[in-house]
Amino acid sequence: MAKTVATNSLFDDRIGAMRTQLSFTHLAQIETELLAVLATDTQTAKGSDAKPEPALLTTDDGVKTAAAAVLASGEYKAGDNEALLLHAPAGLAAKRLLIVGLGKQAKLTVHRVRNAAGTAVRFTKPRGIRELALALPESDLLPADLCARAIVEGAVVGDFDPDTYRSDRKDQSVQSFTVAAPPGSSIATLEAAVTEGIVIGESQNFTRSLVNEPGNKLTPTVLGQRASQMAHEVGLTSAVHSTEKLHELKMGAFWSVSQGSEEPPALIVLRYDPEGVTEGPVLGLVGKGITFDTGGISIKRSDGMEKMKYDMAGGAAMIGAMRAIALLKPNVRVLCVVCAAENMPDGKAQKPGDVQTSMSGKTIEIINTDAEGRLVLADGLSFARQLGATHLIDAATLTGACVVALGMINGGAFSNDDTTYAKFETALATSGEKFWRLPLGEEYGELIKSDIGDIKNTGGRWGGAITAAEFLRVFAEDTPWIHLDIAGLAWVEDSKPHIAKGPSGVAVRSILEWVRSY
Ligand code: BES
Ligand code: MN
Ligand code: ZN
Repeated sequence: MAKTVATNSLFDDRIGAMRTQLSFTHLAQIETELLAVLATDTQTAKGSDAKPEPALLTTDDGVKTAAAAVLASGEYKAGDNEALLLHAPAGLAAKRLLIVGLGKQAKLTVHRVRNAAGTAVRFTKPRGIRELALALPESDLLPADLCARAIVEGAVVGDFDPDTYRSDRKDQSVQSFTVAAPPGSSIATLEAAVTEGIVIGESQNFTRSLVNEPGNKLTPTVLGQRASQMAHEVGLTSAVHSTEKLHELKMGAFWSVSQGSEEPPALIVLRYDPEGVTEGPVLGLVGKGITFDTGGISIKRSDGMEKMKYDMAGGAAMIGAMRAIALLKPNVRVLCVVCAAENMPDGKAQKPGDVQTSMSGKTIEIINTDAEGRLVLADGLSFARQLGATHLIDAATLTGACVVALGMINGGAFSNDDTTYAKFETALATSGEKFWRLPLGEEYGELIKSDIGDIKNTGGRWGGAITAAEFLRVFAEDTPWIHLDIAGLAWVEDSKPHIAKGPSGVAVRSILEWVRSY
């Protein structure tokens, strides 16, 4: 009894061609190129003589028998992402059996399972194997629905590779992915979970495909086109404005970044208005969409500058989250504003010392033209408020200082409202993404007061992530607001067992869950 619940990605072949199914067949009877099962180390004793005790998270006798010898050998420890492949496993219909480790049983979470699914896919891809079935782990610690969803998310995310412009690129996507649930599982619950997992994983990959594009291919205009094409496909309202509209709205901060580029800016607006919802909150998602950041006149040093094509990752995260929102249909209104521009040095570029008047009317002294993200976001936040947002969340690759503070492990999070932030923390528990809340405060605000105008765009050497957030707070005004600094997370620097090196698609899942909490 195998059942297909969903097929190809909805559009854009760059997202991948993985087909996902749900099966309720006994594991031993599944005919597939590769059957994967998960294992934990159940050893609880500490000390050097404590031998690992790997245990499979399945009750299927066929699989247990097939794996018994290698598990007894002590060669396999079920460490985090530790993978072991057996060919022609005795008694199984599958051609290969892969065991993927989850680490210590005591540390078992749905998030480890998500990663293990990615690991299984990334183990499969380079071997030219196109078919993979992964056994839904059986454990009291893991709710089956959350687990099924996480597995599909992890598998879809794991299937993504960034080498889109290689002329000899071979698409090694896993074409058929099966979640193998124990016979007797609740079909409807798991079907819904798998469908959600596909939507979320593919939306994260959509974000990654945008972030991966180089600055010459993905200009602000092209980002606008990609967003509105997606909006059309999933049923969101969209509008993409440019220079004229920026002037009309008096977006002097946003325009000041764009004015030094030959490429016109794009003010991207997406709306999700569920039928019949006319009351309650309107959530405003605001994203930094700098398609390339040279630093402008305060130009960046050249080594590593190529990475600054990813400076639209916050905007791309919002666009990806909107895609997931459109498909999963939460009962709350959501609008999205992405401010896309290219930050270039030029005869027309803004200069340090210039004073800009933002949409809010507040004047900004430009100290450093490389602190451009906060400028475009300032007007983006004002615009989202004008459009009716009652709650705001922004995401941006905003500061190197945030990476210094938190490394590439946690993103920085800031908020002017504890109730709103509490909802975001709950969202993090579901998404598995890591953000660490950093403080705001008047003393930091003092550091960005300007002698000539209201506020300046840098606050000096220390606490740079916080003074940047304080700057944004001014434009969020009294609206409950969360700011996510994803500079350290938006790009995976070294490939990991479960995810390719390159754009991560971070924040899509957390923003989606935050939206769904309303
Ligand atoms: N896009 C960068 C942030 C960034 C810098 C991300 C380095 C990843 C690595 C942002 O526009 C920027 O240049 N920020 C400056 C701010 C400074 C001039 C106050 C920074 O962090 O150096
Ligand atoms: Mn910059
Ligand atoms: Zn930037």
